[in-house]
Amino acid sequence: MSKQNENSNKMEKIISLCKRRGFLFPASEIYGGLANSYSYGPYGVELKNNLKQLWWKKFVSERSDVVGIDGPILLHPKMWEASGHTTGFNDALVDCKKCKKRFRADHLVEEVTGEDLEGENKKMEKAIKENKIKCPECGDFDWSEVKKFNLMFQTEMNGIEEPIYFRPETAGAIFIEFKNILDSMRVKLPFGVAQIGKAFRNEIVAGNFIFRLREFEQMEIEYFIHPKTKWEPIFKNWLELMEEFVQEAGVEKKDLKRNEHPPEKLSHYSRKTVDIEYKFPFGFKELYGLAHRGDFDLSQHSKYSRENLEYYDPETKEKVVPHVLEPSFGLDRTILATLLAAYKEEKVEKETRIVMKFPKKIAPIKIAIFPLLKNKPELVKKSQEIFENLKYNYTCEYDEVGSIGKRYRRQDEVGTPYCITVDFDTLEKDNTVTVRDRDSMKQVRIKIEELENYFAEKL
Ligand code: GAP
Repeated sequence: MSKQNENSNKMEKIISLCKRRGFLFPASEIYGGLANSYSYGPYGVELKNNLKQLWWKKFVSERSDVVGIDGPILLHPKMWEASGHTTGFNDALVDCKKCKKRFRADHLVEEVTGEDLEGENKKMEKAIKENKIKCPECGDFDWSEVKKFNLMFQTEMNGIEEPIYFRPETAGAIFIEFKNILDSMRVKLPFGVAQIGKAFRNEIVAGNFIFRLREFEQMEIEYFIHPKTKWEPIFKNWLELMEEFVQEAGVEKKDLKRNEHPPEKLSHYSRKTVDIEYKFPFGFKELYGLAHRGDFDLSQHSKYSRENLEYYDPETKEKVVPHVLEPSFGLDRTILATLLAAYKEEKVEKETRIVMKFPKKIAPIKIAIFPLLKNKPELVKKSQEIFENLKYNYTCEYDEVGSIGKRYRRQDEVGTPYCITVDFDTLEKDNTVTVRDRDSMKQVRIKIEELENYFAEKL
């Protein structure tokens, strides 16, 4: 099989497993689906929550220099003027006049020429003409001009005349709470403010499963530094931490690469921007971004709100507008990378076992508990007792449906690190159960009263 087929095959396998096993469902499916949107199913939401917790613990709870917030999705419309989103948050749109399909012009060109012309609409038009790029949908060559398309979703709010926007990134809420954080939290530079939440972008083309969505989640930090601080080592450290995080989520270093934006692609206020890319089956693509944004955001919000957003240092009596480094993580892209990295096919006794080898701390279910037979009340009762005891410390699942082999396969496919089976020896002999390890498939017998200690060491 060619590499290309193998890769698209892997995406198909992941998408099908996600639906079959309750990680992700195409949303609004009974109404025919809604343009590349997905619902996280029961295992998907556990995986997502575990990743959020891992992130929050690493970047907020375990750090004395970062605090968290949870701001609203609908914010004052003036702030998007200040940040430049109302006029500048655009992608290049081109319409096929024949089949009426819409495309991102920069993506069309890049696929054919390999050249990234983002932001240069006239050059894109020229490249489409010169390279005779045809519509990928209908094969025709009848394009509209390349137009700017603003990605913000608009809505209305009672009592407000101007349109309101669904936030296109979580970062904005952090900047506009900067003063409240200074006033309430005794923070000292350098310090960070973190937020996890939904963001909305009316992407011209969504796709590649959950890679490009119109409603997605971000995990962002604004890390404020003194303008005179030597920022390069801090920037480097953030890059390393971002890569460390995704490796903790199971991604291998060899599948990551850094892509520094060339100076001509940087916004006028940015000193440096580096994307961390992951080797998705459809190529190396942006997973996370880290940007040095100077004092642009605080200065703009100060100008537009007429509030003083300076930081006052009580020791030096100095007032400064801090600079900011912005590590930005896409949660759905993290989930996709995690699913791809965990997916393994193994030959076991002439059969193929599909197993999701998630790192244990992010596995949706930690322990599954089975009675050997569901029609033996003593086995069922004992299994349910074990479930009741373990459920306080671990996400557990009780399962009595199908043969033990089938139940193991099901748990392998959702990545459950341990399965416990209660059998007749449990009841008749020594009060032990079988504990089966997902990765080695080895089974050991453990006394029920020792299970808590056993898992405390393993999980
Ligand atoms: N505040 C900076 C910011 O929003 P960005 O590069 O536009 O920067 C940050 O987005 C991250 O959000 C990306 O690296 C990606 O992981 C995620 N992201 C952006 N657009 C997305 C989309 N349409 N669907 C899923 N994730 C997206």
